[in-house]
Amino acid sequence: MPTVILGIESSCDDTAAAVILDGELKSSIVSSQDVHAEYGGVVPELASRDHQRLIVPVVSRALDEAGVGRADISAIGAVYGPGLAGSLLVGLSFGKALALSLDIPLIGVNHLDGHIYSVFVDGDGPQFPFLCLTVSGGHTQLAMIQPDFDHKILIKTRDDAAGEAFDKVAKLLGLGFPGGPAIDRLARNGDSSFYDFPRSRPDKRSFSFSGIKTSMLYYLNRFPEEDRAKLLDNHLADLCASFQSAVVDVLVDALDEAITETGVKEVAVTGGVSANRELAERVEQMCERHGANLYIPEPALCTDNAAMVAKVAEFKWASGITSELTLTAVPNLST
Ligand code: KG4
Ligand code: ZN
Repeated sequence: MPTVILGIESSCDDTAAAVILDGELKSSIVSSQDVHAEYGGVVPELASRDHQRLIVPVVSRALDEAGVGRADISAIGAVYGPGLAGSLLVGLSFGKALALSLDIPLIGVNHLDGHIYSVFVDGDGPQFPFLCLTVSGGHTQLAMIQPDFDHKILIKTRDDAAGEAFDKVAKLLGLGFPGGPAIDRLARNGDSSFYDFPRSRPDKRSFSFSGIKTSMLYYLNRFPEEDRAKLLDNHLADLCASFQSAVVDVLVDALDEAITETGVKEVAVTGGVSANRELAERVEQMCERHGANLYIPEPALCTDNAAMVAKVAEFKWASGITSELTLTAVPNLST
């Protein structure tokens, strides 16, 4: 009998479902909520309500596109943290109810494991152990990934995540939400030496990105309103390029150092910010210098999706790991 894994993701503002059949991704549906754009950030109450509206049609579409029925599902992987409590509860409760009604196992999935295992969705992925830089809107960490979800965190952020810094800086520059893709696009035509943003790390085990954001705020506040408008008219791309290259420098240097120190030459970059072109190019060059193999998922698998959730569930299912139906959402779950 084929193994059919349904993955469900609802940790923030994307309602997503995906089907993996015998290891192969058959469908991946992501419904991104537009309601937050006008607020410049995710509004938790609106997010959970939209998940309620979307969860049934999104799961139905994932099953339809995969050409499977509910009765064919072998196990359901659902994200139980980290994320927004109200958002997590929708996908997790739906997954539990469906598992209960079909009398099949539920597999609780850590959203961060999802990002890490996204490198296995569209290919064989790296060999264990591998170094994984996960850079998203909620998290930034560099970890050594060993088999059976035994991760060793090497560095994590002590304040803002890298994606959060992109989003906050984009807001300061009057760009939309989420800001990462807009900064990425504009930076391509900008001069990264226009302004020298800070590139430091507080210590060997931490990242910090709130200083770069504050530095942009102080820089803009130096100008009276009219001059600031002119500055943004003439140098928006330069400011984007300068900010982006500071963030990328910090991330690439940390990864470079970790490869040297550990000698591990299997490297992955995952999470929403891994869709950033400059980051991908710079990591690629650095890995080439080390003779290391680099894995970055295709853009649709970098940002939140359920294919990565189904992939984690598939690994767990293969190891006989399932969850109790009493599993609760854990908003501050760590890896
Ligand atoms: O992984 P993700 O979809 O959600 C979280 O788990 O947080 O990441 C979303 C983050 C946002 O902060 C967004 O601005 C950022 O990823 N992002 C990017 C790019 N595409 C998405 N940041 C920089 N460059 C991009 N191309
Ligand atoms: Zn994410």
